[in-house]
Amino acid sequence: MEPNRERVTDDLVLRKLASDIIPAMRAIQIVDLTGPDSALALVELPEPEPAHMLTPGAGVLIDVHAAGVSFPEVLQTRGSYQLKPPLPFVPGSEVAGVVRSAPAGGQVKAGDRVAAFCGLGGFAETAVAPEFFTFALSPELDFAQGAGLILNYHTAYFALVLRGRMKAGETVLVHGAAGGVGTAALQVAKGIGARTIAVVSSNAKQRVAEQAGADEVVRSDGAWKDEAKELSGGGVDVVLDPVGGDRFTDSLRSLRENGRLVVVGFTGGSIPEVRVNRLLLGNTEVVGAGWGGYVMGKPELNREIGAAVNSMVDEGVVRPIVGERFPLERAGEALKAIDERRATGKVVLDVRAG
Ligand SMILES: NC(=O)c1ccc[n+]([C@@H]2O[C@H](COP(=O)([O-])OP(=O)(O)OC[C@H]3O[C@@H](n4cnc5c(N)ncnc54)[C@H](OP(=O)(O)O)[C@@H]3O)[C@@H](O)[C@H]2O)c1
Repeated sequence: MEPNRERVTDDLVLRKLASDIIPAMRAIQIVDLTGPDSALALVELPEPEPAHMLTPGAGVLIDVHAAGVSFPEVLQTRGSYQLKPPLPFVPGSEVAGVVRSAPAGGQVKAGDRVAAFCGLGGFAETAVAPEFFTFALSPELDFAQGAGLILNYHTAYFALVLRGRMKAGETVLVHGAAGGVGTAALQVAKGIGARTIAVVSSNAKQRVAEQAGADEVVRSDGAWKDEAKELSGGGVDVVLDPVGGDRFTDSLRSLRENGRLVVVGFTGGSIPEVRVNRLLLGNTEVVGAGWGGYVMGKPELNREIGAAVNSMVDEGVVRPIVGERFPLERAGEALKAIDERRATGKVVLDVRAG
């Protein structure tokens, strides 16, 4: 008994010493690939160094108050997302919090409230993001809203404006319009001066789309294509599609001449195929919009998009719609809400109080 007890005591002393040198933090790890019910574990880990893999040796260290939850994290619990880090790893692509340290000469400094895209590592009390992916958080937004700002709103701006070439006065049809990307697209389109038609699957989601500012709402189980054509006087200019699946062909049919269908994601589960004669006959385009891959190596473009989104916050048109909130330790439930198609707006983990 005695030697064992000594070893346990030594162990505790060593762990205490280690945590005095490298502060520990609570975090959620993906430990296996069995899905949101069982793949997550709450763990204590050493805090990360202020260095991000995209900016080796440098990074903004952030005390995380809220972490955004998105579809890719659900896919990561099953190993079916394109980014597949070795197990175990801390998921979480975006956070809002307070800067603890930042590279000198950057746009943010210690003590600033920020929204940041960290890629991984966000489901933790401390996270690191590249300086070019860290943005001052307007006092108009709380941390939960900040945790829903980058992935969805930067994607919406990139997809609608830079890829979809959308302009004031045009009409956009937004699929999955009560979801994270969908609600962001409705607001960004408003900020550009466009008219919006939201496609949703339930009454609850209709209310969320209306709250996000949709001009018109149609139902995905109804005659949405005909309704969209009628509401837009013959066809919409842009379709924003985070859903894919079997509604793709009707999306093409709902476009007017010169219309653009912007492909953003495939929550519907299947990747549609295009019969290109439809594009020829309708004089329309299908455009891909993969935000992360495009902006990753373009710091100036990130700042441009960040400034455009922040000025829409200042104008009052961008207000992230926060849906269900869960404490960090209940991250699995947050992922299940998305997986079971119950989520509306942005699902958020509250990591620290305040
Ligand atoms: N391309 C990019 O750069 C980029 C960036 C960010 C996200 N994304 C992708 O965009 C997609 C949407 O992300 P999100 O955060 O907006 O997701 P979300 O909040 O879960 O919303 C997705 C919406 O898709 C609709 N949907 C239709 N069939 C579904 C199904 N079988 N299961 C779940 N949802 C279904 C739902 O609306 P209804 O029930 O009303 O139909 C739901 O509200 C994801 O695939 C994500 O990976 C792409």
